[in-house]
Amino acid sequence: MKPVDFLLIIHPVIAVIFVFPLIGIVSYFAEQTRQRRLQTLNKKKSNISPVVGREHVLMGRWLSGSIVGVSLLGLAYPIGENIINNRLWSSNLFLFLFILIIFVVTIAALVILQKTRQKHWRGVFATLTGIGLVILGFQDGVFRRDNQWYMSHFYFGILAALLMIFSLAILEEIYQDCSNRWRSVHIILNCFALLLFMAQGMTGIRDLLEIGKYKLGG
Ligand code: HEM
Ligand code: HEM
Repeated sequence: MKPVDFLLIIHPVIAVIFVFPLIGIVSYFAEQTRQRRLQTLNKKKSNISPVVGREHVLMGRWLSGSIVGVSLLGLAYPIGENIINNRLWSSNLFLFLFILIIFVVTIAALVILQKTRQKHWRGVFATLTGIGLVILGFQDGVFRRDNQWYMSHFYFGILAALLMIFSLAILEEIYQDCSNRWRSVHIILNCFALLLFMAQGMTGIRDLLEIGKYKLGG
């Protein structure tokens, strides 16, 4: 392993050490939140702490931020490698600046999305974050596996990140909607996101092995 290869493993290391434990914590609090809500709905006394909902949302905010963050990091490596190999700053200065600006705008939009509460601003910044991620995903150098999209680390990762952005965008609606429609939408989409996270674990390890083999000429 050459020193430069450490750049490649930053993304998997953060995913394994930080993001996956967070997924476990968020899922645990999600289940507890639901149990408590159903118990109190049936007028039963619940032993579950009333703060589980708040804890779920707090950890959920961390999770959504880190899934988008870790995806940006996963994209930064191949995009950066492509920029350096093609000396993009001299061959296509416009594209070089465009990529840098999109990285900055996407991160800024995510930070603002975490803070903003008004419906229309949540819509605006969620859309900006999502568009930024997709634009970066379709830059040269990113290994998308277009012909095998059904087992692609890229497509699953982007979809999972978009679902996390959507969770942030509809956060207030979950509380405000008395019919629980948004709550149900949230549960269905995020249970699907859980499957995508598992797929990320498998496809990510496969891609690490394949990149290793390719570099060693195997
Ligand atoms: C692994 C991903 C996630 C799963 C599986 C999940 C699942 C759930 C479940 C099962 C509930 C309880 C629903 C009920 O009361 O019946 C819930 C509530 C909620 N979730 Fe998530 N969730 C996830 C991530 C997130 C994220 C990223 C956010 C946003 C930051 C979020 C925001 C909320 C909110 C606001 C509630 C309502 C809490 C309350 O009633 O006090 N969730 N979620
Ligand atoms: C929920 C967790 C994860 C998400 C959301 C995620 C997302 C992404 C995204 C969007 C990319 C850029 C597109 C691509 O090149 O495929 C990427 C790249 C990559 N990820 Fe992940 N990933 C996650 C976990 C992991 C794990 C656990 C591993 C390995 C153990 C891993 C290994 C890789 C590798 C090797 C790359 C390729 C870098 C390159 O193309 O040069 N990822 N990831």
